Amino acid sequence: NSPAMSTEARLAAWAARVETAIERRLPSASTEPLRLHAAMRHACLNGGKRIRPQLAYASGYLLGADENALDDVATAVELIHAFSLVHDDLPAMDDDDLRRGRPTVHVAFDEATAILAGDALQALAFETLARATAPAAVRIALIETLARASGSLGMCGGQQLDMDATGRVLARADLERLHALKTGALIRASVRMGALVGEADASLLECLDGFATDLGLAFQIRDDILDVEADTSQLGKTGGKDAAQDKATYVSLLGLEASKALLDELSEKMKAALGPLPEQADGLRRLAEFAVTRAY
Ligand code: IPE
Ligand code: IPE
Ligand code: MG
Ligand code: MG
Ligand code: MG
Repeated sequence: NSPAMSTEARLAAWAARVETAIERRLPSASTEPLRLHAAMRHACLNGGKRIRPQLAYASGYLLGADENALDDVATAVELIHAFSLVHDDLPAMDDDDLRRGRPTVHVAFDEATAILAGDALQALAFETLARATAPAAVRIALIETLARASGSLGMCGGQQLDMDATGRVLARADLERLHALKTGALIRASVRMGALVGEADASLLECLDGFATDLGLAFQIRDDILDVEADTSQLGKTGGKDAAQDKATYVSLLGLEASKALLDELSEKMKAALGPLPEQADGLRRLAEFAVTRAY
C-alpha cells in the first residue's frame, strides 16, 4: 500500500488483503472435521464489505502502523463479525436463509454445524490475536478490547437486547444503547485495535473512540433503513425482515425521514471529530461517508 495510492484504491487493497489473511488463518477445507471447516470457510470467504477490517487498517495507517501486524487485527475482527452473522441468522434468532448473496450457514449445512462454526470462528479470532505480530503488551490489549466488544457487555449483550426488544417499542435512549452494543461495540473495537497496533496515545484513542461510536450507530441506522428501502438482490440478504419480525429499529421508532436526518447529523459529527487529523485519516473519512450513504 504505497503513499501514492488513492484512498479508494487503498481501501480496496485492504479488503483484498484481509481476504488473503483470513484464507491463511482458516484450516483448509481438507482438514478434519471437513464439514465444520467447510462451514467456517463458507461464513468468512468470498463476501462481505469488510468494513471492520478496513477500519482497523485505516486507523493503523493514520499512525503509520505495520500492515503485517494489522492483518492479524483485521482478520480477528472479521472472524468475530462472521461468527455473529452465522448465529444472528439462526432460526432461534433472525431466521434468515440468505447472507452475502448465498444460503446462510445453517441452510447450506445444518443448524448444529452453524452453531459450532460460529463458536470455532470466535475461538480462532482470539488465537489470531494471541499470535499476532505485535509486542506482548499490545497483544494483551488487543485481546481485552476484542473480548469486551464481543461479550455480554458488547455484541452478545446487544443481540440479547435486540431479542428482548422484538415486538416492543423502546425509548430512544434504549434503542441507541441496543445499537451501540450489537453493532457499535465491534466497530469501535476495530478502530481502537488498529490504533493500538500503531501505539496511539490516550488523547488520540479517545478522539477515535468518539468517532467510532458515531460510525457504529450510523452504520446500524443505515442497515435499518436499507432493510426497508433496498431489495434482496441489492442487499444479498432478505429485505423487509425487520418489519416482518417486528424488530425495534430506528425506522420503526422514528420513521425513514427522521432516521435519515439523524444520519446527516452523525455525518457532520464524524467530520468534525476527524477535522484536526492529517490526510492520512482520509481512509477513516471515506469509511464514515460510506457508513451513511451505502446502498448495500
Ligand atoms: C451486517 O453487517 C450486520 C450489521 C451489524 C448491520 P455488514 O453490513 O458489515 O455485513 P457484511 O459483512 O458486509 O456482510
Ligand atoms: C445484526 O444486526 C448485528 C449482529 C450480527 C451482531 P441485524 O440482525 O440487523 O443484521 P442483518 O440485517 O441480519 O445483517
Ligand atoms: Mg439481528
Ligand atoms: Mg439479522
Ligand atoms: Mg439488519
